[in-house]
Amino acid sequence: MKRRIAILGSTGSIGTQALDVISRHPSLLSAEVLTANSNDTLLIEQAIRHEVNAVVIADESKYEKVFKALDKHGIKVFTGINSIGRVASGSNIDIVLTAMVGFSGLGPTLEAIEAGKAIALANKETLVAAGSIVMKLAMEKGIPVIPVDSEHSAIFQCLQGERSAPEKLILTASGGPFLDKSAEQMAKATVEEALNHPRWSMGSKVSIDSASMMNKGLEMIEAHWLFGIKPQDIEIVVHPQSIIHSMVQFADGSVTAQLSTPDMRLPIQYALTYPHRVPLNTNRIDFSALSRLDFLAPDFGKFPALAIAYSAIEKGGNIPCAMNAANEAAVNAFLGNKIPFCRITQIINEVTNMVPYIKEPSLDDILETHKAGIELATKLIAK
Ligand SMILES: NC(=O)c1ccc[n+]([C@@H]2O[C@H](COP(=O)([O-])OP(=O)(O)OC[C@H]3O[C@@H](n4cnc5c(N)ncnc54)[C@H](OP(=O)(O)O)[C@@H]3O)[C@@H](O)[C@H]2O)c1
Repeated sequence: MKRRIAILGSTGSIGTQALDVISRHPSLLSAEVLTANSNDTLLIEQAIRHEVNAVVIADESKYEKVFKALDKHGIKVFTGINSIGRVASGSNIDIVLTAMVGFSGLGPTLEAIEAGKAIALANKETLVAAGSIVMKLAMEKGIPVIPVDSEHSAIFQCLQGERSAPEKLILTASGGPFLDKSAEQMAKATVEEALNHPRWSMGSKVSIDSASMMNKGLEMIEAHWLFGIKPQDIEIVVHPQSIIHSMVQFADGSVTAQLSTPDMRLPIQYALTYPHRVPLNTNRIDFSALSRLDFLAPDFGKFPALAIAYSAIEKGGNIPCAMNAANEAAVNAFLGNKIPFCRITQIINEVTNMVPYIKEPSLDDILETHKAGIELATKLIAK
């Protein structure tokens, strides 16, 4: 049976790579629904090339152009942020790939789970902001949430066939563009320098998160929710070559790892074809050319985002949501040259300490916390 996919965020880095994967396996996978925020030109091109059933362009000012281009091809066109979850939850969809960026992914993900769709999850911010709500709903509905993030896919792959619970998860981190830079150099980094990731080509938000290592903090929280492991049993190890994508340690001291050359299409494909492995034209590892694999402890002094993330998930409740909101606002401000790089983590820290704590937040509390986190961060940015 062909799996019919809705890609939320098809015009982004994950979305375009997912379409590449889908086009390589026409007998197994088909793209049925594509969504974008405002990139109308690429959305139109993708929709025609992949002969999809429907698209959503969130930006309502772009609707007319997209409708004119696609209606004659028999492709349905919807608009508005609220259409994304509804269209992705249609009866013609089996898997929803959540590849939107930031908190915007939460609503559509919950709607898709509610409608009984399997989730291939790239949008880590959804679990950071509302992990307990999302995983509880998925559990109640019996919905699989399959990780797309390369680290979580690695852990997921390491756990296949295992009957014993892990003792520890070891998340690998490339260290980002500032691994070998001093704290002083990092504080003054330009947008261009921060976007220049040594191993992965990604969207701008996740690239800046990687530079501050907030990305690894977000991933630690994502791993906590996906695999039900306590934060203190999730270790972060810097591995600059990005060949080992993460590891699992068991009670007998055995460690299993998943290795491959860095290529996001692999975890995307595994999430879409799980539990099957199908061919993919990735570069294979040449072990004789690979002279060394390095590992080092992360520098918590130089990368304060890591300690902020561990502290946020230890406090729990709505605090990770506030942290995520502040990060989104601060990253946007840095990308717009409104604050220096070092201000990003300072703003996150200040906002997480200012937001009123809610131990067991409802969805409304999470929405309110996100709004409050953005507002507080915006005020700090303007200072
Ligand atoms: N890129 C990677 O290698 C990678 C690896 C692991 C995890 N992830 C995670 O995957 C997610 C996507 O990352 P990405 O790098 O693919 O991001 P990206 O390149 O910036 O793409 C984001 C996609 O989401 C759409 N979008 C953004 N804001 C939206 C909004 N408010 N409403 C509706 N659609 C919106 C964008 O549409 P427009 O193009 O129209 O703006 C685009 O299609 C993130 O959560 C990231 O952390 C990414």
